[in-house]
Amino acid sequence: MGEKPLIDSLEGKTAECPPFWFMRQAGRYLSEYRELRSRTGSFIDLCLNRAASTEVTLQPIRRFEPDAAILFSDILIVPYGLGMDVRFEEGKGPILDAVCDAKGLNKLSIDKSWSRIESTYETVASVKSQLDSDKTLIGFSGAPWTVATYMVEGKSSKDYAAVKGWAYRETEEFDRLINLLVVATIKHLSLQIDAGADVIKIFDTWAGVLSPEEYQRWVIRPSFEICSELKRRYPDVKIIGFPKGVGVGYLDFANKVGVDGVAIDTSVPPEWAAEFLQNDVTVQGNLDPIVLIEGGDRMIDQARKIRKSLQSGPFIFNLGHGVLPATPVENLIKLAEFLRVPLE
Ligand code: CP3
Repeated sequence: MGEKPLIDSLEGKTAECPPFWFMRQAGRYLSEYRELRSRTGSFIDLCLNRAASTEVTLQPIRRFEPDAAILFSDILIVPYGLGMDVRFEEGKGPILDAVCDAKGLNKLSIDKSWSRIESTYETVASVKSQLDSDKTLIGFSGAPWTVATYMVEGKSSKDYAAVKGWAYRETEEFDRLINLLVVATIKHLSLQIDAGADVIKIFDTWAGVLSPEEYQRWVIRPSFEICSELKRRYPDVKIIGFPKGVGVGYLDFANKVGVDGVAIDTSVPPEWAAEFLQNDVTVQGNLDPIVLIEGGDRMIDQARKIRKSLQSGPFIFNLGHGVLPATPVENLIKLAEFLRVPLE
């Protein structure tokens, strides 16, 4: 066994107690995050402040000792690095000046504004230097499709009408945006690996809104291109993909993209994932974050069921989506304790 249980699992090994971490394990549900956030200016300022983002990355590690730290940043740092204005408004979420035509596309550049986000890689190095050697450092980015939804809609969307409309109508032009994001994502992830990230996670939160053909074109193909280039540059780096909400599309993702691990959302039956995905990839998931707000026996029972279904293959325990702001931290501490004890 190696030094880092989470990497062992991504190499296909099984364990009596699964390695674990929680999506959005840093954030508003932690009082120490709210305190630091209240004196660090905007959310983007926080992401780009090396000392503050290092501290926020480490806060959940001190609280419940998960097997991994995930860089504190956001998927919208990449559009910011491409020259877009990105703001986060209380209660509204992200606001961007939407790109919806060739003119907007031509303004984006991989080089011109990238220095705006370079402190991100200093944060990676600084977290790495403070992390115990048994902990894995996860770097991340959004996948091109999900990042494009925010760039084209200019905000969180309900129906994705603007981005899908553009993609369906002017497919080749939209492909230019996706290809630009493939290159930008490879750059962003390579720089994180250079700075010390052990594992990469690629978030495709809105993969599930596409029709089957478009799923192949804007999720599978770009994810494959990113993974193959990263593996060419860094043969040892491990990659986890998260195409949320794709149902049977998880099969193609596990078979075609070249990831080491696939994160499944709450809707995927763990037994199904054990039977159809775990032969090809390590499965990560998938407790419902709402159950974490409730806590108690229901939380432990559901966590036990997930462990029973997936623990005989390579498995990383996690949630099906991110920790919500209303989650009591005691529940996460209890869940972490349960995960450290072998099942009877
Ligand atoms: O702890 C971690 O997981 C690392 C940090 C992280 C954040 N965002 C911090 C954040 C990560 C990995 C993300 C990824 C991210 N960002 C995704 C993909 C994963 C997912 O949740 O589906 C997406 C779609 C985004 C875009 C984004 N960022 C939105 C839509 C919002 C607003 C909604 C909200 O929760 O407020 C954000 C803001 C954001 N990113 C916060 C945090 C902690 C909250 C900002 C605050 O503190 O006010």
